[in-house]
Amino acid sequence: MTRSLLQLRISVEYARKRVLNDVSLEVAEGEILGLVGRSGEGKSTIALSILGLLALKGGRCEGEILYRDWDLLKLHPREMRRLRGKDIGLVPQSPLAALNPNVRLGSQLKEAWRAHERGEPDWKPLLESVSLPAEESFLRQYPRNLSVGLAQRFLIAMAVLHNPSLLIADEATSALDTITQAEILGLFRRLNQSRGIAILYISHDLASVASLCHRVAILHQGEIVECNSVDEVFLNPQHPYTKQLIDAIPQLPTVGASAMESGLARR
Ligand SMILES: Nc1ncnc2c1ncn2[C@@H]1O[C@H](COP(=O)(O)OP(=O)(O)O)[C@@H](O)[C@H]1O
Ligand SMILES: [Mg+2]
Repeated sequence: MTRSLLQLRISVEYARKRVLNDVSLEVAEGEILGLVGRSGEGKSTIALSILGLLALKGGRCEGEILYRDWDLLKLHPREMRRLRGKDIGLVPQSPLAALNPNVRLGSQLKEAWRAHERGEPDWKPLLESVSLPAEESFLRQYPRNLSVGLAQRFLIAMAVLHNPSLLIADEATSALDTITQAEILGLFRRLNQSRGIAILYISHDLASVASLCHRVAILHQGEIVECNSVDEVFLNPQHPYTKQLIDAIPQLPTVGASAMESGLARR
């Protein structure tokens, strides 16, 4: 049995309004868990709770968040800062908004490195691992000149800079066109396989989750209504809300059927 990396059971309130009600989640070492629900169901609230950033947003979290040997809710803020961005990486939703447009990429990398380490490493292997140009000229660029896909690759490079065990990707592919989205999903898959990084992949889009994740948890009205392997959830959804999410996935027309309709089959 694979060891559990993250195991949480939490309830969260914003100004006395409860948004998460005894939510349980578990991510095993090296696993990709999808967390799915429509907008407003509380997905980002879970991410913020794990990262120890909920209080900044006026939220209050009760319960426990066990990560390795620690209960993150009991960690000293200093210890939490040491963990965040180092052992637990975050890939945010809007890559261009997350980067300072007026600071060169190289300087932003260096700053992220110096948050936890001294000196300056050779950036080449890191950039190559996320399929970015490993050249000085690239690092001299400003984020404002990057495409959204390149910016997201760069943010993923920053998130895996310190070789984390867990990556939290909160709607990390939602702002991307489908081709770029497929490339970024491929990158997550590679990072998971080659470096064993576990990923909590948060999305409102069940289709991208199906292509990337091992298991999926469905969040609805502040509760996990279903959690199972991707195959099981798709083939045998238990909760009406899960069925709605599956029905909402756009279907490709079946080639055979449309060929029949257009008369090709009659020849
Ligand atoms: N800082 C906040 N203060 C008050 N309510 C909030 C705050 N952030 C989120 N909420 C509310 O909590 C619920 C869950 O939000 P969120 O976790 O952002 O959902 P999701 O990421 O699934 O879209 C929503 O009803 C939202 O309006
Ligand atoms: Mg969100």
